[in-house]
Amino acid sequence: MQRFENRVALVTGAGSGIGQATARRLAEEGAAVFCADLDLDAARATADSIGGGSVAHACDVSDEAQAEACVQACVDQLGSLYALVHMAGILRFERFHDTSAASWSQLMGINLNGTFFMNRAAIPHLKESGGSIVNASSTAGLAGLHWGAAYAASKGAVLALTRSIAVEYAKDGIRANCVCPGDIQTPMTRAPAMPDMPGREQLIRISSLDGPKGPEVVAGVIAMLASEDGRHINGEDIRVDGGTLS
Ligand SMILES: NC(=O)c1ccc[n+]([C@@H]2O[C@H](COP(=O)([O-])OP(=O)(O)OC[C@H]3O[C@@H](n4cnc5c(N)ncnc54)[C@H](O)[C@@H]3O)[C@@H](O)[C@H]2O)c1
Repeated sequence: MQRFENRVALVTGAGSGIGQATARRLAEEGAAVFCADLDLDAARATADSIGGGSVAHACDVSDEAQAEACVQACVDQLGSLYALVHMAGILRFERFHDTSAASWSQLMGINLNGTFFMNRAAIPHLKESGGSIVNASSTAGLAGLHWGAAYAASKGAVLALTRSIAVEYAKDGIRANCVCPGDIQTPMTRAPAMPDMPGREQLIRISSLDGPKGPEVVAGVIAMLASEDGRHINGEDIRVDGGTLS
């Protein structure tokens, strides 16, 4: 399949996990991928490994000016923007009553403000290309997460933001959707620090479905949403969690 031939995709969080797997998948389907991450070396490693005219870029998505510069650099260097795949994010486990204002603000700054800044900057370019946005929510945006209140709040807000963008810009031909991953094995979920270290299994919902749980299972869904195959899907959130919330 070459669903992204002559298309440009900007992927945040492209240095690791789901963002990295999506950058690879979109490049395999013909896209020139602008690989953005806080970690430039990691973004570079992804861009180098997928080739196809891909470019690496350092960006802290929680910084308004950097987020805007990132989108502009993508358009300047690759010529346009067809798909914004915004996967950059952080996860932290802590008891709600121990959550400091600084910790809350950092989580919201990256997961929610970062989505605001990147999505807003992309809109004018997506109007030109008739493209779309795929944001990273989570099963934690749909159901409670033990010791993950701030994370869950940020991901619930990403869902609400995405739905509103979807209805506001449908008339401009722009779609906006979310993926809600769960139990995907990436550096984020491999060994998260927890208050009393009770074991990953007790806090992360584990799917009993056999088969791969790597980030590529989310990348395939993101590629579908961002492609013409997803052209009648707007304001949707798709769980990719092996049925843990079913
Ligand atoms: N892995 C899962 O099971 C799972 C479940 C639900 C939701 N998610 C969401 O999917 C997205 C990707 O998660 P992942 O598992 O691939 O995580 P990951 O930790 O493997 O990758 C996240 C990437 O985001 C980058 N990043 C962090 N802060 C950034 C910032 N301020 N600016 C730019 N880049 C930044 C990191 O450097 C890293 O490369 C996240 O938004 C996460 O919350 C993941």
